[in-house]
Amino acid sequence: MSALLEVRNLIRTFSEKSGEALAAVNGVSFTLSRGETLGIVGESGCGNSTLARLICRLLEPSSGSVYLDGRDMAELRPACMRLQMVFQSPAGSFDPRRTVGSAVHEALANRGVPKSGRAGKTAALFERCGLDAELAARYPHELSGGQCQRAAIARALAAEPDILICDEATSALDVTVQKQIIELLSALKAERNLSVIFICHNLALVQSFCDRVLVMHGGEIV
Ligand SMILES: Nc1ncnc2c1ncn2[C@@H]1O[C@H](COP(=O)(O)OP(=O)(O)OP(=O)(O)O)[C@@H](O)[C@H]1O
Ligand SMILES: [Mg+2]
Repeated sequence: MSALLEVRNLIRTFSEKSGEALAAVNGVSFTLSRGETLGIVGESGCGNSTLARLICRLLEPSSGSVYLDGRDMAELRPACMRLQMVFQSPAGSFDPRRTVGSAVHEALANRGVPKSGRAGKTAALFERCGLDAELAARYPHELSGGQCQRAAIARALAAEPDILICDEATSALDVTVQKQIIELLSALKAERNLSVIFICHNLALVQSFCDRVLVMHGGEIV
């Protein structure tokens, strides 16, 4: 398997109140192959979320690079569509003033899907994620946590990503719903040959779901 994503010596520092610099991510390198599921574990504050945000370029690195298909992400602006994130707080990742369906429409529009095709595609994505298509008309607070996370996955898929980065995407859900979401992710992964970066504190879950696991400590892979 050739590397789809290569993370090379990523560093991100934040300045603390004391004036000292904290390296939240300190020289992280790894590769991810197409179709691979990579787990990242580590104690709270070890830099997991910072690393996820750096990879998606929601945050600029202090130094280091991320390559997608061998091309530097810093020079590939629309490349971010190819990496999509699913966050811990299902409702918190949606705009509370807009329906969840409109968030999916927006992702489709960003991918160039014409207006006339968006409703049908949204319905299909909702149904693929185990949601009744009518739920697209609801606001985030009108959905359960599990339903909202399914809608967040539908929104991520609307971008037709190659890589899904799940940052504690199942942590806020109860165990039964957690299992359902993992099953959904496993099925989608196989069906679309998706690569997944799965950040999670639950080691048993990571071991059962991932092909390979990286352990982070103090901003480094140990
Ligand atoms: N924008 C920021 N400004 C300053 N410090 C930050 C910022 N973002 C993160 N940090 C610091 O970087 C370190 C790593 O944060 P990060 O959110 O990556 O942790 P994490 O590993 O995801 O933890 P958790 O498992 O609890 O979610 C922490 O010490 C945090 O306080
Ligand atoms: Mg985090």
